[in-house]
Amino acid sequence: MKYILSPSLLSADFTRLERDIRLCEDNNVPYLHIDVMDGHFVPNISIGVPVVKSIRRCTDLVLDVHLMISQPERYIQAFAEAGSDIINIHYEAEGDKKAILKKIREIGKSPALTIKPNTSYKEVLSLAEYVDMFLVMSVEPGFGGQSFIEKTLKNAEGLAEYREKHGLDYDIEMDGGISTANAVKPLDAGVNVIVAGSAIFGAEDPKGEILRFNDILNRYEAAK
Ligand code: DX5
Ligand code: ZN
Repeated sequence: MKYILSPSLLSADFTRLERDIRLCEDNNVPYLHIDVMDGHFVPNISIGVPVVKSIRRCTDLVLDVHLMISQPERYIQAFAEAGSDIINIHYEAEGDKKAILKKIREIGKSPALTIKPNTSYKEVLSLAEYVDMFLVMSVEPGFGGQSFIEKTLKNAEGLAEYREKHGLDYDIEMDGGISTANAVKPLDAGVNVIVAGSAIFGAEDPKGEILRFNDILNRYEAAK
């Protein structure tokens, strides 16, 4: 099992994205988490296809694209062509999720399914065979810098237990309110991909925070 840090660019300086991306590259970060919000599925609007395209031109890191949009089916082709590697759609979004996940796979991208804090992991178990990763939200999607919701650890634990029981190998990512102070909670619950936005890019010393995350993740990887 690989333990992976996926810094959320939502909290980066959008006028200096390249600097923040290089900071990740230079410190062995494997993924970049990109939050796409449509002002409808969530109240906020963030970034879209052109920005993903520009980021793709600037880096070879894995682009972990989190679509907080009502109609993912309409946009997955565009996000794939823009250079996304992992495409996360929400279980709570519109459309036939199984068909959308299969389509993401067909177009050569890695399908992932996201659940909000009030959705139970039990609702998505039947879709496990169509995903490479489940993304468990540990805050209500829409904004960076919120507090971690403890009860969402149950969703990660349930997905980890199911994975173990059925010999599956999907990744489990957790997103929202994670810092070096509480990262062991999701990791102990079976999470292996950690998203952190404000804890990294909002810190006085973003590089130091990345290195501290790396230490924690390396310890888990060594122990497995
Ligand atoms: C929230 C986004 C998160 C957000 C995380 O809707 O999905 O990826 O950027 O930010 P922090 O780590 O600040 O909670
Ligand atoms: Zn996200």
